Amino acid sequence: MFSMGKMNHQYLPLFLASCFFFISLSQTSSNTSSHHHCLPDQSAHLLQLRQEFVEWNYSGYYDYYNGSYPKMKSWKADSDCCSWDGVTCDTENGEVIGLDLSNSWLYGPLNSNSSLFSLRHLRKLNLALNNFTFSTIPSEFGQLVRLTHLNLSRSFLHGRIPSEISWLSNLVSLDLSSNFFYYYVGGDYYEKLLDLRRIDLEALVKNMTYLRELHLDDVSISSSLPQSLANLSSLTSLSLSWCYLQGKFPLDIFLLPKIQDIDLSDNIDLVGFVPKFQSSSSLKELHLSFTKFSGELPNSISNLKSLNYLDLGSSNFSGTIPPSIGNLSQLTHLFLSYNNFHGQLPSILGNLKSLNYLDLGSSNFSGAIPPSIGNLSQLTYLSLSYNNFHGQLPSTMGKLAKLTSLGLVNILYYREVPFFLGNLTQLEDLSLSQNNFDCGFPIWLTNITTLQLEELDLSGNKVLVSKANINSTLPKFSYLRLSSCNLSKFPAFLEAQNELQHLDLSNNNIEGNIPKWFWNVGEDSLQYLNLSYNLLSKFEQPPVVFPWKNMYLLDLSFNMLQGSFPIPPLSTQYFLASKNKLTGSFPPMICKMHALKVLDVSNNQLTGQIPKCLLNLSNSLEVLAMKNNNFQGNLPETFKNGCSLVTLDLNHNQIHGKIPRSLVKCRMLESLSELKILVLQANGFYGPIWDPHINFGLSKLHVIDLSYNNFSGKLPSNYFQNWSAIQGVTDKDKSQTRYMGDSSNYYKDSMTIVNKGVELELVKILTIFTAIDLSNNQFYGEIPDSMGNLKALIVLNLSSNNFTSHIPSSLGNLIELESLDLSRNSLFGGQFLTFQSSSFEGNFGLCGFQLSKKCGNNEIPTSEMRHESSLGEGFGWKVVVIGYACGLVIGLVTGHVVTSRRMDWLVRNFGVNLRR
Ligand SMILES: *[C@@H]1O[C@H](CO)[C@@H](O)[C@H](O)[C@H]1NC(C)=O
Ligand SMILES: *[C@@H]1O[C@H](CO)[C@@H](O)[C@H](O)[C@H]1NC(C)=O
Ligand SMILES: *[C@@H]1O[C@H](CO)[C@@H](O)[C@H](O)[C@H]1NC(C)=O
Ligand SMILES: *[C@@H]1O[C@H](CO)[C@@H](O)[C@H](O)[C@H]1NC(C)=O
Ligand SMILES: *[C@@H]1O[C@H](CO)[C@@H](O)[C@H](O)[C@H]1NC(C)=O
Ligand SMILES: *[C@@H]1O[C@H](CO)[C@@H](O)[C@H](O)[C@H]1NC(C)=O
Ligand SMILES: *[C@@H]1O[C@H](CO)[C@@H](O)[C@H](O)[C@H]1NC(C)=O
Repeated sequence: MFSMGKMNHQYLPLFLASCFFFISLSQTSSNTSSHHHCLPDQSAHLLQLRQEFVEWNYSGYYDYYNGSYPKMKSWKADSDCCSWDGVTCDTENGEVIGLDLSNSWLYGPLNSNSSLFSLRHLRKLNLALNNFTFSTIPSEFGQLVRLTHLNLSRSFLHGRIPSEISWLSNLVSLDLSSNFFYYYVGGDYYEKLLDLRRIDLEALVKNMTYLRELHLDDVSISSSLPQSLANLSSLTSLSLSWCYLQGKFPLDIFLLPKIQDIDLSDNIDLVGFVPKFQSSSSLKELHLSFTKFSGELPNSISNLKSLNYLDLGSSNFSGTIPPSIGNLSQLTHLFLSYNNFHGQLPSILGNLKSLNYLDLGSSNFSGAIPPSIGNLSQLTYLSLSYNNFHGQLPSTMGKLAKLTSLGLVNILYYREVPFFLGNLTQLEDLSLSQNNFDCGFPIWLTNITTLQLEELDLSGNKVLVSKANINSTLPKFSYLRLSSCNLSKFPAFLEAQNELQHLDLSNNNIEGNIPKWFWNVGEDSLQYLNLSYNLLSKFEQPPVVFPWKNMYLLDLSFNMLQGSFPIPPLSTQYFLASKNKLTGSFPPMICKMHALKVLDVSNNQLTGQIPKCLLNLSNSLEVLAMKNNNFQGNLPETFKNGCSLVTLDLNHNQIHGKIPRSLVKCRMLESLSELKILVLQANGFYGPIWDPHINFGLSKLHVIDLSYNNFSGKLPSNYFQNWSAIQGVTDKDKSQTRYMGDSSNYYKDSMTIVNKGVELELVKILTIFTAIDLSNNQFYGEIPDSMGNLKALIVLNLSSNNFTSHIPSSLGNLIELESLDLSRNSLFGGQFLTFQSSSFEGNFGLCGFQLSKKCGNNEIPTSEMRHESSLGEGFGWKVVVIGYACGLVIGLVTGHVVTSRRMDWLVRNFGVNLRR
C-alpha cells in the first residue's frame, strides 16, 4: 500500500523523524525484553510449536510473500526465548505475550492440540501469510482470552469459524480475511472459504466491545449484518469485502464516532444508502463498489474532510455529483464508474488537487467536460469513457502532465485525435477506441512525442495506415489493438514492433496473403494474436510451425484460409481456426503441442482420422471442436487416464464406430460425470450407448446429442436415474444464468439447434439449457420411465427410432419442457397420444401426426403457445411438437464457468495478469 519508492523530498524530514522513532522504540523494547528471561515452559511450548510445521517457501507465489523468511529457524533451545525472532515477553514476569509468525513459511495444519494454545498469556498473535493447508480454525482459540490482537489472514484456513472465537472479549483487532482459495474441476470454478454463521457474528459483536478493527474479507457470512454492529463504538476499521452479505447495511455504522475505513465492496446483494454525514466524521476510506448501494450522493459528503479514497464503482448510485464534493481536498482516489450518475460534471471538481485516480467511465454524464479538469495536476489515471459528453475535449487536458493512463472510449463526438495528447509525455496506456475518428496512424503518433506509450487501443475508428517511414520514432508497443479499424492490409510499421505481446487486428478487411515478414512481428514476445474476421486467404510461404515462441492464443477463425492445416507455435494453449477453408488432414506435428487446451477447427474441409495423440496430449486438452468437417474413421480408443476433456464436438463428420470405452478415463469427466454436453451428431456411431459394466453416470450432462447415428439397443428403465444436472436446475442457477465457455473469454461455445423448425446458432449456451436428442437412431424398447426424473429438461427428441410400447406417464413431470418430438417410432397407446387433435387446436403452428397439418421444414411454432389445460395436470409445456419433419439438432459442448467479477478480484488482490 505504502510505497517508499517514489518518495517526495518534502516528506524526507518526516520520514527521518519516524525512523528515529522506530529506532528508539526498538531499543527500548529490546532493553526491556532482555531484562527478563524466558520461562522454561514457555520456551518448551515454542520449540514444540516449531515442530508442528514444515518449512515451506512461498516466495514467488504471490506478491505478499516477498521479503518473508522462516522466523522460527533462528530459535535456539539454548538461548533466551524472549530474544527470539517474533517473540515478545512480558517485562514483569517473562511470560510470552506476543507472537508474530506472520509470513514465516509455516506449512501444515493448525491442530487443536497445538502447543500454541498452551501460551495462555498471549495478547498479540499474528499468524498471517502462512499455509495451514485448509485446516479449520481450532475452537481452542477461545481459550486465549487475553488476546487483544488476532491475525489469521491469508493463511489457507477454511471451514466454519468456531463460535468460541466470540469468547475473546478483549480483542481490539480481529483479522480473518482473505482465507480464500479457488480451483477448477471439470471447467467449473470452486472456492474454499472460511464461513461465519450469523449467530456467531452476533455473539462476537456482543462480546468484543473494545473492537477497533474487524477484517473479515472473503469470509462467507451469507446473511444480513446484525444491527448491533453499530454498537461497536470504538470501531475504526471495518472490512467485509466479498462476504456474500445480504439484506440492508446498518446505516448507523457510517456514523460511528471513530470509524475511518469501511470496505463493503464485492457484496453484490448488499443493499444500502449513504447517510447524511456529520462534520465530525473521520472517514478516510469508503469502498462500496460492486454492491447494490443506491441513492444519491448527499451534499453532506463535504463533511468528510479526511476522505482520501472513495470507490462507488459498479453500484446503483444515481443523481448528480453534488458541487460540495469540491471540498474533499484530501481525496486521492475517486471511482464513480458503472453507476447511473447523470448531469454535468461540476466545474469545482477541478479543486480536488490531490486526485491521483479519477474514474468517471460508464455512467450517464452529459454536457461539456469542464476545462477545470486541467487543474488536476496530480492525476495519473483518468477515464471518461462511455458517457454522453458534448462539445470538444477541453484543451486544458494537455496540462495533465502526469497521466499514465487515459481512457477516452466512446466519446463519439470527436473526429480528430485531440492534439493535446502530444503534451502527455508520461502516457503508457491510451484507449481511444470506438470514436469514429479519422486517424492517420501512425503519423499522428509522431506528433505525440511520448515514447512511454506501451498500450494503445484504437479499435473501432477509421484508421488510415500511413506508408511513411516512421519506424524509428514509434514507441515499441506491448499491447496494440486495431480491431474494427477498416484496415485493408497489414500495417507495415508492425514489422519493427519487436516487443509486442498482444496484437488484435480482428474485424478488419485485411485480404490476401499473410506476408512472410509478419512471422517476425514480436517473434520472441507475442502471446496473443487475433486475426479473426478478416479476408485472409493464404500464408505467403507457410512456415512448418509458426515462429512465435511464447504464443498463448492464436485466433485465425472466420477467414478464408486455404491449404493445409497450419501448425501453431508449440506453446499455444488456444488455437482457433474455425470457419476457414483448410483442407487435408492434421499433420503429425500437432502431436507436439503439449500445452493445447482448446482446439477449434470447426467448419473447415479437413479430412483424415483424428490423430490418437490429440486425445493423449499431456492431459491438457479441454475442448476439441471439430464439427462440420470430413473427418473419418473411428474415434480413437486411446483416451488416457486423467484426460481433461470437457468438450467434444464431432457434429457432422464421418466418424464411425463405438463410443470408445476409454472416454471414461477422462479425469474431468470422471465416469463422464463432469461432461456437460456430448455431441456426436450425424456420424456413423453404432452399438448400444449403455453398458451395465461401465457406470456412465452422466450426472452433469446438460445436452446430449447422439442424433443421426446408428446407435441401437434398449435403454434400461433406470437409465436416467442419476442425471442430476437435468434433474434439477435450481432457481439459483437460473438467477445466475451463467454461460458455458466464459472462463477464458477466448472460447465461446456455440451450438446449432433446430428447435421448432428453425436452425439457430446459439453462440453462448446457457448452463441451464438442457436437451436430449437421441433421434434418428435405432434405439428400441420402451422409453425409460426414469426420463421423468429429468425435471429440468427443455428439449427432448426421440424421433425416428424404434421405441415401442407406450409413452411413460412420468413424462408428465417434465414441467420445463418446451419441445418434445417423439415422432416416427412405434409408440402406441400412451397417455397423451390418445388426445384428439382438437387438444392442439388454436395452436396453429403445431404440426404432427395427430394434427391435420404435417410439419414442413420451415414450420415455426411460436414459443408462446400454451396448452396446459388440454394436456392435463402437470403439463406446463410451452410447445409440443409431435411432428414428422421437425427435427432437432444440437451441437457442442463444454463447461468453463467463472464470473468475470471474480477475475477482477484476482487481478486486484493477487496481481494475476489477466489483462483484458
Ligand atoms: C536499559 O536497561 C538498563 C537497566 O536495566 C537501564 O539502566 C537503561 O537505561 C535502559 N536503557 C534504555 C534505553 O531504556
Ligand atoms: C497451500 O497448501 C495447499 C495444500 O497443500 C496448496 O494447494 C496451496 O497451493 C498452498 N498455497 C501456497 C501459496 O503455496
Ligand atoms: C462472551 O465471552 C465469555 C468469555 O469471555 C463467554 O463465556 C461467553 O459465552 C461469551 N458470550 C457469547 C455471547 O459468546
Ligand atoms: C503543454 O504543457 C505546457 C506546460 O505544461 C503548457 O504550457 C501547454 O499549454 C500545454 N499544451 C497543450 C496543448 O495543452
Ligand atoms: C501536429 O500537431 C499540430 C498542432 O500542434 C497540427 O497542426 C498538425 O497537423 C499535427 N500533425 C499531424 C500529423 O497530426
Ligand atoms: C521499418 O523497419 C524495417 C527494419 O527495421 C524495414 O525493413 C521496413 O521497411 C521499415 N518499414 C517502413 C514502412 O519503412
Ligand atoms: C423395430 O422393432 C421391432 C420389434 O422389436 C422389429 O421387429 C423391427 O424390425 C424393428 N424395426 C427397425 C426398423 O429396426
